[in-house]
Amino acid sequence: MDSFVFYAFLFVHLVSLVTGFGAVIVIDTFGLLWVLKKRDLTAVNQVADVTQKLIWIGWFGLVFSGIGLITIKGYMDNLTWIKLFFVLMLGINGIYLHLLKKSLVGAQASNIVSPIYKFRIGFASFISQLGWWGALTIGFVHRHWRHEINWPQTPAIWMSGIITFLIIIYVIGQWRYGTKSI
Ligand code: HEM
Repeated sequence: MDSFVFYAFLFVHLVSLVTGFGAVIVIDTFGLLWVLKKRDLTAVNQVADVTQKLIWIGWFGLVFSGIGLITIKGYMDNLTWIKLFFVLMLGINGIYLHLLKKSLVGAQASNIVSPIYKFRIGFASFISQLGWWGALTIGFVHRHWRHEINWPQTPAIWMSGIITFLIIIYVIGQWRYGTKSI
């Protein structure tokens, strides 16, 4: 398995990880500074314009190099299905964040954001952290502990559980902070 081509893909995988997750950490830090009222929304949006592109570059780089890695590895275990679930979740969440950001442009001038927008940004940031930490932990464990981990026995139940948990949080948030659509 550990051929030169495998390590070439692994190198691209790690560079993509640094690019994508590094940008996530930057924008989340700016988001936190905005919550603490140490940065205004215009500054956060300007940073997000740049980090958004870097995050997509990193995400696509991870997917392309990941496909190369898994092809050479030659099998998918149960934990890898969970990892792919996190990767897909990150992709969908990225589109959601993009739509959210577009809808926030109007609020940028006034620097006032409604509670429902704040909830949605917080919710999407939570999904982002869950997905990135989940995928990178699974990748690390595979690489440095065991290549094949057939746990959990039924990955579909875990995925459904995570989806159900997120839907419950979303519905509670919508109910608590309003029903205005983006
Ligand atoms: C957000 C997306 C992803 C993240 C954060 C991520 C993270 C990681 C990390 C941290 C490693 C260990 C690298 C090392 O320590 O040298 C790794 C390895 C690996 N990743 Fe990913 N990865 C992602 C997406 C993917 C995808 C989409 C696939 C497959 C289609 C994939 C397949 C693999 C494989 C096969 C390995 C090597 C595992 C082994 O040696 O047994 N990754 N990944």
